[in-house]
Amino acid sequence: AADPRLQGISDAIRVVPHFPKQGIMFNDITTLLLRPGVFKDAVDLFVERYRGMGIDAVAGIEARGFIFGPAIALAIGAKFIPLRKPRKLPGEVISEKYVLEYGTDCLQMHVGAIEPAERAIIVDDLVATGGTLCAAIRLLGTLLIY
Ligand code: PRP
Repeated sequence: AADPRLQGISDAIRVVPHFPKQGIMFNDITTLLLRPGVFKDAVDLFVERYRGMGIDAVAGIEARGFIFGPAIALAIGAKFIPLRKPRKLPGEVISEKYVLEYGTDCLQMHVGAIEPAERAIIVDDLVATGGTLCAAIRLLGTLLIY
């Protein structure tokens, strides 16, 4: 049976039609964040899944992966790696481009944030085309657990 917390999480996410443009159904997690119990449920589901699995790093995708990722990282005893939009990180970076509906965007990570043998999970609020997640996977280039 599905975890009973999933329905509460789903119900707490506001769906906004035609945002940010016509035809897009925007899943807004800010309404979930206003409900501490449900916010905790969302974090706990990932903590329960990944705790004790030898995860060294949680990589959060800007911007909403920065909301959930650090909470998960602290609870499982992993480091947090921000994967950022271009020109935000001050140190030496590696970059991965990805395709958007119009044009391309890019994610960057600091060189040295992760070692080749380390295990990472990637956190974001949602997957649409998967382009952003694929760029994050290429960026980490490490052992991933699904
Ligand atoms: C959203 C969302 C994911 C991505 C998913 O971010 O938070 O990161 O789109 O889309 P995809 O699977 O088609 O790649 P957005 O591009 O709105 O950036 P933001 O978080 O900086 O607002």
